[in-house]
Amino acid sequence: MSETSTPELIQVRTEGRVGIVTLNRPKQLNALNDQLMNELGAALKAFDADDGIGCMIITGSEKAFAAGADIGAMATYSFADVYKGDYITRNWETIRSIRKPIIAAVSGFALGGGCELAMMCDFIIAADNAKFGQPEIKLGIIPGAGGTQRLPRAVGKAKAMDLALTGRMMDASEAERSGLVSRVVPLDKLMDEALGAALQISQFSQMAVMAAKECVNRAYEGTLADGVMFERRLFHALFATEDQKEGMDAFVNKRAANFKHA
Ligand code: CAA
Repeated sequence: MSETSTPELIQVRTEGRVGIVTLNRPKQLNALNDQLMNELGAALKAFDADDGIGCMIITGSEKAFAAGADIGAMATYSFADVYKGDYITRNWETIRSIRKPIIAAVSGFALGGGCELAMMCDFIIAADNAKFGQPEIKLGIIPGAGGTQRLPRAVGKAKAMDLALTGRMMDASEAERSGLVSRVVPLDKLMDEALGAALQISQFSQMAVMAAKECVNRAYEGTLADGVMFERRLFHALFATEDQKEGMDAFVNKRAANFKHA
């Protein structure tokens, strides 16, 4: 898909300062093929570049957030196909380049690449019917979009090994207990909950929000000493923004802050 063509496998809408992408390949349980991932990447990049958007949500259907990479599309690939072409997950890297927060609102299956896509988002809010897993082992492969790296960081080695080696699914309450998801809500409240969080985030100073995302990711990806220094530099840098003056003046004068995202 070019950046300007109409997407076919996702739906895109906005709600206030929130950009919402709904994966929309229902017959295949939102299996993630090249076209869908290109469309998703283009939509997220457009939201990231839009000053009217402060936060994004990726969601799926009630039955499936996404049941993984498209098995039919990759079934006949050879090693040379996937290695030379860097197939299947090359266009997933776009998601990591997005600087505004992305919330995954997950109901139903989040399996294989679906679980990995959710983990690439900044946090996961799950419906009580959500099921997470890395079942690639059953297909004679392993996770290929960061699952073996992000899952242990989220849930620890024991549970990550259990899931990656047995291919079993874990339900929403186990996922919350293990730290994979931040909140679990009834299915019919999922979008309200995700939208409430996203609207709240999108009202805050955009530069402070982006700095917080960068810093937390630094903790997730680097050493403590590096992360603390990185955080201190960004903390100091935010004192150069108008929003810091506004936020603190509002607190001191007991009024609501009106951030300009500047
Ligand atoms: N790829 C392609 N098609 C898929 C799919 C996938 N990952 N998952 C489901 N579908 C399709 C099914 O083939 C089926 O299509 P048809 O109706 O044309 O037969 C349709 O979606 C509905 O699926 P089921 O009939 O299987 O539905 P179910 O409710 O009985 O089972 C399920 C649901 C447990 C999620 C099951 O579909 C399933 O196990 N799916 C595969 C999950 C999986 O292995 N994911 C990992 C993929 S590999 C990967 O993701 C690699 C990576 O790390 C990037």
